[in-house]
Amino acid sequence: MNQEVRIMVNYKGKKRGLENTRNEPMKNKIIKLFVIWEILIYTSNSSLDSIYAQSAMTNVSARHCTNLNGKWQVIIDPTGAGDWRQVWQEKKPEKKTDFIEYSFEGGPSLNVPGDFNSQMTELKYFEGTVWYKKTFNYNLNKDKRLFLHFGAVNYLANVYVNGNLLGKHEGGFTPFQFEITNAIQKGENTIVVRVNNQRLKDGIPGLGYDWFNYGGMTRDVNLIETDNSFISDYFIQLKKHSSNEVKGWVKLNGNRLLQDVEIRIPELNIDFKTKSNNEGLAEVKFSSRFDLWSPQNPRLYKIIVQCETDTIIEEIGFRSIEAKGSKILLNGKPVFLKGINIHEENPMREARAFSESDALILLTWAKELGCNMVRLAHYPHNEYMIRLAEKMGIMVWDEIPVYQQIEFSAPGVTDKMDLMMREMVSRDKNRCGVIIWSLSNETNPSPSRDNALINLTDKCRHLDSTRLITSVINDENYKNNVLNVWDTLYRHFDIISLNEYLGWYVPWQGRPSDIKWNLAVKGKPVIISEFGGEALYGSNYGPKDEAASWSEEYQEQIYKDQVAMFGTITDLCGVFPWLLADYRSPGRMHPVFQNGWNRKGLISDRGEKKKAWYILKSYYGSIKNTY
Ligand code: GCU
Repeated sequence: MNQEVRIMVNYKGKKRGLENTRNEPMKNKIIKLFVIWEILIYTSNSSLDSIYAQSAMTNVSARHCTNLNGKWQVIIDPTGAGDWRQVWQEKKPEKKTDFIEYSFEGGPSLNVPGDFNSQMTELKYFEGTVWYKKTFNYNLNKDKRLFLHFGAVNYLANVYVNGNLLGKHEGGFTPFQFEITNAIQKGENTIVVRVNNQRLKDGIPGLGYDWFNYGGMTRDVNLIETDNSFISDYFIQLKKHSSNEVKGWVKLNGNRLLQDVEIRIPELNIDFKTKSNNEGLAEVKFSSRFDLWSPQNPRLYKIIVQCETDTIIEEIGFRSIEAKGSKILLNGKPVFLKGINIHEENPMREARAFSESDALILLTWAKELGCNMVRLAHYPHNEYMIRLAEKMGIMVWDEIPVYQQIEFSAPGVTDKMDLMMREMVSRDKNRCGVIIWSLSNETNPSPSRDNALINLTDKCRHLDSTRLITSVINDENYKNNVLNVWDTLYRHFDIISLNEYLGWYVPWQGRPSDIKWNLAVKGKPVIISEFGGEALYGSNYGPKDEAASWSEEYQEQIYKDQVAMFGTITDLCGVFPWLLADYRSPGRMHPVFQNGWNRKGLISDRGEKKKAWYILKSYYGSIKNTY
């Protein structure tokens, strides 16, 4: 293993110290710490008893993978007894008088990927621990390394290989990995994963949120074999404000960090050559005349990222996105974002979406509605969504679940926010379809919130200066048909994003077309990141003009009124109705109209289009963008 600085982290992601394998002066250590921390290093597989998971290598699908999807044996553990019974050790009776009060053998199994709530009736509302087990055979050559990669596990994951704890990960919507080169044996190996989806007061999200808490190993699991030294990460996108100059980097990991590095784009006759430094970092800088990506022309190029010991082939698009005054410019031209909010759920399966086919259903609906963008609420969705959206010419709003009630001043919470943001940016930074990083939704104003989000915004901008950064606010106030929009944070963001539910949670105080918007922060693009109201498809339970009937006509009128208002808002650059499809949320408890579903979808849980769908489709059809 290369002589690299190892930052030892404890479970909560707090840095515990700095172990250096060379006697270097402290100043060098700090420099290494900064460089390596910025590029999301890998913690080598060390003897540390409980290291935090490594940030995942980029572009897993292009690597030498052994997929571990399929049936995993499980032990359902509602009281947490598996912790003190140490089920990961899989003890077996030795003497005639021995007996063991747990076993994976003879028990149920669950599909991975997939939430556990939708797979067994007794798990429908389960919030607790489920132990997963998978065995695999692997013969690893001595000049190779092996990593265990998880697309996501909701919410806490403890990962064991052959009875030994590899480490832990917190957060239900971002990838992570462990190096298991030295943890596996020739022949059969066993992985045990302790998954716990209990909501935490100091979690991200916290205790309360308006979506279903699907627990489990909700995304793909892969073994990734690499060379001793390999390409662990890279960033290849247009420089901010440029339509022809690429500025990025390639990061190597392993014992040969000084290598020749090459980026090739055959269609453009680009063959950029450089060398990595003794940190394994190579700067990338080249120019070309690109056929720029846009919703009209979702052009992707085959890119070959190569060093002497590794080659990664990837499809990457090039486009520029910027906020200029109160406009959003895509490739230098003003664009109106015709958005829609989507939760990561296939309503017809009543389950967490995780596959390419789920992504195709959701994004095809969005396309049919006339959208050019999706807000993936309120957390990073699976990578199939991001990659398919890019191919379909749909821009993406990528968000971390810093949602409503967050304990910003509790120990470790800002570290968790920081790590979750880094894991989201690390995974999606090469996806040109992603144009907005959103760092929170509807948090309550407070000094601790402001400090946390201002710091996080700065760090996000430092990691990726090429995209727009925002947080969604909803503390606007509405008086005498004037909507006063303000928040201490707005000046830190590239765009002003707000949720407003005029016509549903907030009755109109006058004609929608007479409303005045009073923006405290002027000269920035304004996005309505949520609006809408509920309707039960086909509801005929009462007067159509009363909210309590959950009628489609009531929802339809909300959309008509909102569209009438949009025309009065200067600097409006985009709207994102809440939301594409009805989705499960246990707090929505009316037994007739909701029955555990949030009914603000434009599509019902059976895929039926409500009347409001057609209002929005017509509005989007009337807006012409020139890409
Ligand atoms: C909020 C929130 C959503 C929620 C929606 C609603 O604005 O951002 O997550 O589901 O309102 O009340 O339906």
